[in-house]
Amino acid sequence: RATTMKISIFGSGYVGLVQSAIFADVGHRVTCMDVDADRIERLRRGDIPFFEPGLEAKVISGVEQGLLSFTADAAEAVGASDYLFICVGTPAGSDGSADLRYVMSVADSIAQHMEGRKVVVNKSTVPVGTADAVEARISEGLTARGVSLPFEVCSNPEFLKEGAAVTDAMSPDRIIVGARSKATIDEFRQMYRAFNRNHEKLMFMDPRSAELTKYAANAMLATKISFINEIATIAEAVGADVESIRKGIGADPRIGYQFIYPGAGYGGSCFPKDVLALRHLAEAQGCPAQILSAVNDTNQRQKQKLGQRLIACLGEDLSDCTVAVWGLSFKPNTDDMREAPSRTLMETIWAHGGKVQAHDPQSMAACQAIYGDRDDLIYCENKDDALANADCLVVCTEWKTFWSPDFDTIKRTLKHPIIIDGRNLYDPGQLEALGIHYYAIGRGRSVVQH
Ligand code: UDX
Repeated sequence: RATTMKISIFGSGYVGLVQSAIFADVGHRVTCMDVDADRIERLRRGDIPFFEPGLEAKVISGVEQGLLSFTADAAEAVGASDYLFICVGTPAGSDGSADLRYVMSVADSIAQHMEGRKVVVNKSTVPVGTADAVEARISEGLTARGVSLPFEVCSNPEFLKEGAAVTDAMSPDRIIVGARSKATIDEFRQMYRAFNRNHEKLMFMDPRSAELTKYAANAMLATKISFINEIATIAEAVGADVESIRKGIGADPRIGYQFIYPGAGYGGSCFPKDVLALRHLAEAQGCPAQILSAVNDTNQRQKQKLGQRLIACLGEDLSDCTVAVWGLSFKPNTDDMREAPSRTLMETIWAHGGKVQAHDPQSMAACQAIYGDRDDLIYCENKDDALANADCLVVCTEWKTFWSPDFDTIKRTLKHPIIIDGRNLYDPGQLEALGIHYYAIGRGRSVVQH
């Protein structure tokens, strides 16, 4: 059975907006709600608040077809649909726990405005037990209204990657659903029909298992990254090359080539927050989370590496130094600078009195929103401008435009021929032959002292 379903999505961030657009794309009738009325007004005009490849076209086409609408009115969103998705932020609290205030405020709106049967679906990454907590909260709200209405709370975590969010959501590896009733399970099959071709991708389980699946997936991926970064540090100490090691271990299909790239540390809105939230959750249950602590500690150290290397090259006092920084976002194809290694680097440079000349293909506005206008940060239109009169170059993000630069220009322009590469983009042998001092991550000979 292929039937249009009515779906309301609370939250117009990465998860909510992408999910809204792709549900509308396959013919469902979607109402996307956000408390930020300005944002809703802009979305109605097709103005997307962040950079995400392919999203704008899908949003505009959904609106034109009359399948996607936006509202800042919670009552309208609750009334419009039988399926209500919670896709709001779950920021980290000061102790690392996930802050559920936005999730609970959606639950309150639902309890306040619902009239008939609703299925409430948590897509935000939330601690185990949140489906039950949302259920209790909605029950309380209904009791306060003096009504009794049928509803079910499910978990349907999102696994999309920023920069590839639309394609990930269109072709998911798996669709995890934590739901209890047969009717709801059947409706989920209908809702995800267009995304469940080729082979069975829907996996049904209880809500707590679905919630933990999401944390376990992100924690496992973060573990792979911290593991290879630790190997990189050992490789530096013993004079080995982590790039050879990465390929050598990746050839074993049990390890695989994916997600074991050493680098300047993981950033973004998910891994740092989710590793800490899972650790917090485990500890609250009396389970020691030693691996998670180590993964986080290693990442914190890794994010310091670029700054430490810079100081090893130029000295502690950077007051006469200008550093060219290529790449600000936490990874390519996004303008997101949350927890980005570039921020740790720039803050280190500033703490030592130095100046930054930065270029990023997408994140200049995001950077300005965080750091504003300051004398020690110059925003450069292109990568060559960032090099002008700079002492050395640091690469923080592996945008395609940084992969094959003109090394002669770099050498001619920089005051010192030094490249510090947080993403292992270049060939140490080639750069050595060109007379460039190259410091990468875990690459034996490339880390000889300047
Ligand atoms: C991640 C998960 O991949 C996604 O499934 C989940 O839904 C949300 O969190 P995202 O944060 O968008 O997605 O980015 P991702 O591409 O996973 O990269 C995360 C960080 O890890 C980046 O800082 C990246 O540079 C770093 N990374 C990734 C490495 O350092 N090495 C790698 O091999 C892979």
